Amino acid sequence: MKNNYENIESLIKNKTITLTKYPKILAAVLILCIIIYYTLFHVKNLNPIEELNFNFFQNRSYKLESFKVDEEKMLNANSKQIFFLETHLEQNRTLSNPRQVCSVEAAARTNPDMEVYLFLATNKSDVVLNHNDFLDVLLSYPNIHIRYINTSEYTNGTKLQNFFEIHDLSKSPHRIEHTSDILRILTLNKYGGLYMDLDVLSIFPIRMIDKINFVCLERSTHFSNAIIKLDKIEGKKFSDVYLEKVMKDYNPDLWAANGPDMVTPAFLSFCNGTELPLEKTGQCDTLTAWANQKCFPIMFGSFSKFYEDNFKDEVMKKFHETGSFFIHIWNKMLAFGNKSYKLYKNSTAAYMEVAKVFCPKTIEKTEIFRRK
Ligand SMILES: *[C@@H]1O[C@H](CO)[C@@H](O)[C@H](O)[C@H]1NC(C)=O
Ligand SMILES: *[C@@H]1O[C@H](CO)[C@@H](O)[C@H](O)[C@H]1NC(C)=O
Ligand SMILES: *[C@@H]1O[C@H](CO)[C@@H](O)[C@H](O)[C@H]1NC(C)=O
Ligand SMILES: *[C@@H]1O[C@H](CO)[C@@H](O)[C@H](O)[C@H]1NC(C)=O
Ligand SMILES: *[C@@H]1O[C@H](CO)[C@@H](O)[C@H](O)[C@H]1NC(C)=O
Ligand SMILES: *[C@@H]1O[C@H](CO)[C@@H](O)[C@H](O)[C@H]1NC(C)=O
Ligand SMILES: *[C@@H]1O[C@H](CO)[C@@H](O)[C@H](O)[C@H]1NC(C)=O
Ligand SMILES: *[C@@H]1O[C@H](CO)[C@@H](O)[C@H](O)[C@H]1NC(C)=O
Repeated sequence: MKNNYENIESLIKNKTITLTKYPKILAAVLILCIIIYYTLFHVKNLNPIEELNFNFFQNRSYKLESFKVDEEKMLNANSKQIFFLETHLEQNRTLSNPRQVCSVEAAARTNPDMEVYLFLATNKSDVVLNHNDFLDVLLSYPNIHIRYINTSEYTNGTKLQNFFEIHDLSKSPHRIEHTSDILRILTLNKYGGLYMDLDVLSIFPIRMIDKINFVCLERSTHFSNAIIKLDKIEGKKFSDVYLEKVMKDYNPDLWAANGPDMVTPAFLSFCNGTELPLEKTGQCDTLTAWANQKCFPIMFGSFSKFYEDNFKDEVMKKFHETGSFFIHIWNKMLAFGNKSYKLYKNSTAAYMEVAKVFCPKTIEKTEIFRRK
């Protein structure tokens, strides 16, 4: 009996004989290949490399799936999931802010046991993202899912059904903020989980505080809505109260009215008017109010300390002392003020120190972390 090696030998031999039996076919295939190559690369007098890059690498777009593809999974996740919302990509569908990409990457790395959803609210039916390095970074994590939300479908069957038809947010100057403020609470109400703004870094595994439903105090008697964790059972009691308030008191004119400024009254109403915890961590029913340092170790007044070289030690010390679960980097603050410096990869600012650990892939694809 022949051994395997001989079998292979004879196979190759047979194949060669078969092929040489059809020299005309071979020649025809060869000519066809030459024609295809010529048509693709030479007819338009273009350099083959440029043509390839242009078509296949530089201008690809990535078609998003709807949130619906994950609906079953989100409903059954036992609230162990993280949500980000982007509500202003209608004009230019490009993930272009490295700090936002960093936040999503950080959430996925710090919490490999959780699914991370980045939802893009849209008013278009054909939803694509421009393909770039940042998109590749996010797609390289199996637990990151980028989906689009059609608001009529997303609110369908919820308390907020028809909300976006009744209130035409597209005419509001605060369309981006209000859509986000409302959809984040609706998301937690529907599926349960943790919501974070795109300028929040998750630096502590959420499973360690899995049982806790919480909102974060920003100032003494004022809550933030940048980070909220509400599960689908106990936490839902609070999101129900919140959504009822939104429906009753929706205010199209003030940018914080339906978000940051609504958490506090919703909390008071949920707690039957119990006194606010005032700076300290407090509790009401099963809802925890974290003292601001757990969520905002550096407050917005000092936000620039993240980005300046001289403050690294002070900021890092603060992170350790406060035992923060999150770092809020106050993206919005970067739009104000007139200090114009750039944050390069080689910077030793606190932000870069943290980013290197929590979003290394984003760092790899970024030269400048701060515009202006
Ligand atoms: C990508 O292709 C579309 C359609 O061909 C074109 O309108 C658009 O300008 C291109 N974008 C870039 C960045 O080349
Ligand atoms: C979209 O944003 C990217 C990144 O900021 C920029 O390079 C591009 O020119 C923008 N495109 C349009 C059409 O504004
Ligand atoms: C979607 O929103 C953008 C930005 O507000 C607007 O320019 C565009 O006309 C809207 N498209 C539709 C179909 O409503
Ligand atoms: C949203 O979904 C509804 C129902 O499927 C559809 O009629 C509507 O056109 C969609 N809106 C957009 C902007 O795609
Ligand atoms: C809302 O849900 C109902 C029942 O599931 C469905 O028939 C309807 O098409 C949905 N509407 C939208 C806008 O998704
Ligand atoms: C507030 O009052 C209602 C009605 O009395 C009660 O069901 C609920 O448990 C109270 N909530 C808290 C947080 O004490
Ligand atoms: C801009 O810089 C000037 C000069 O340093 C300062 O007086 C002013 O307060 C700054 N404005 C803001 C908005 O930071
Ligand atoms: C950091 O990188 C920037 C841009 O590449 C460069 O201009 C600058 O000199 C570098 N700074 C240091 C301290 O290496």
